[in-house]
Amino acid sequence: MSEVSGQAHDGDVVYSGYGNRTILERLALNHRVAIVTGAGQGIGRAFAHALAEAGAAVAVVDVDAGKAKTVADELATKGARATAIDADVTDPAQVREMVDRTVSTLGGLHVAVNNAGVLDGRGPLHEMDEAGWTRVFDTNVLGVIRTTQAFPPHFRERKAGTFITTTSIGGHVAFPFNSLYHATKWALEGFSESLAFELSKHGIAVKTVAPGGIKTDFLSRSLVLAQHEAYAPLMAKALAAFTNPARASTYSTAEQIAEVVLEAATDGKDQLRYIAGQDAKASYAQRKAVGDEAFRKAVDQMFFGG
Ligand SMILES: NC(=O)c1ccc[n+]([C@@H]2O[C@H](COP(=O)([O-])OP(=O)(O)OC[C@H]3O[C@@H](n4cnc5c(N)ncnc54)[C@H](O)[C@@H]3O)[C@@H](O)[C@H]2O)c1
Repeated sequence: MSEVSGQAHDGDVVYSGYGNRTILERLALNHRVAIVTGAGQGIGRAFAHALAEAGAAVAVVDVDAGKAKTVADELATKGARATAIDADVTDPAQVREMVDRTVSTLGGLHVAVNNAGVLDGRGPLHEMDEAGWTRVFDTNVLGVIRTTQAFPPHFRERKAGTFITTTSIGGHVAFPFNSLYHATKWALEGFSESLAFELSKHGIAVKTVAPGGIKTDFLSRSLVLAQHEAYAPLMAKALAAFTNPARASTYSTAEQIAEVVLEAATDGKDQLRYIAGQDAKASYAQRKAVGDEAFRKAVDQMFFGG
């Protein structure tokens, strides 16, 4: 692992320069070090760029070493300090090493973004196996717990530090044929809320960012996995609702969600939850307004009709 420089990424979004950020915005995280897990693509990559644009040195972590290096190269190209770390959040030794390497290479640690997650195993529960649901929990839940537990010594010594965990609007509401995914994201919301009580007394902030739909291939790629004849008509209806263009029109770009992560990293507020994206805010507000049971019935109606 070493600090890197190189060419811009040739992916769906080409990042260059600092966009429209003011000088003040570019200094918001000056002399701060951030780490982002699952930063090799998707919204984690956008988070890494936003944090770097705010002046942070960034450790770009991904289980895919090539992707981590590409994104660290992108950050270096725009003048940021960055380092690529290939680490798997399901491996406790790699997680500990990831934290130590970030501190030793970039000279500290101030913002930790738990973002690595998988959406495998969607579909009827009946069709999922032990190995599949273990992998989802091992990454989405235990991965966050492992990384979070590895940081506090670095944060406690300075009585400062911020954890931001990417949960999902799926950690506040539930939709059909996503039982495992929702279980992991609801778990993270409860984990974070409880943890905030003990860490806030040491000056450490715990925050969650809950995006709605993202204009990436995350949803469509994962929806086709598990199938079962007994659930086929229901699955077809659910798929039609999920892929309804009207629904997708309210989804956010990764860059829009990254602005919310930047806000959480820099606002200094005692605030646990940041609901991110137009669709997520609407679902969250509707559930609060009508109550849990009425919301659940409305979801059933929306997906499956009368
Ligand atoms: N895309 C969405 O619609 C959406 C909506 C809400 C929340 N989220 C959450 O946002 C996060 C990122 O989603 P995305 O859409 O960018 O996903 P993505 O699949 O595009 O990217 C995830 C990245 O994490 C890496 N990764 C996977 N397992 C890992 C592991 N064990 N250790 C280290 N890195 C690992 C992958 O290599 C990949 O680069 C996830 O936690 C997801 O649950 C996504």
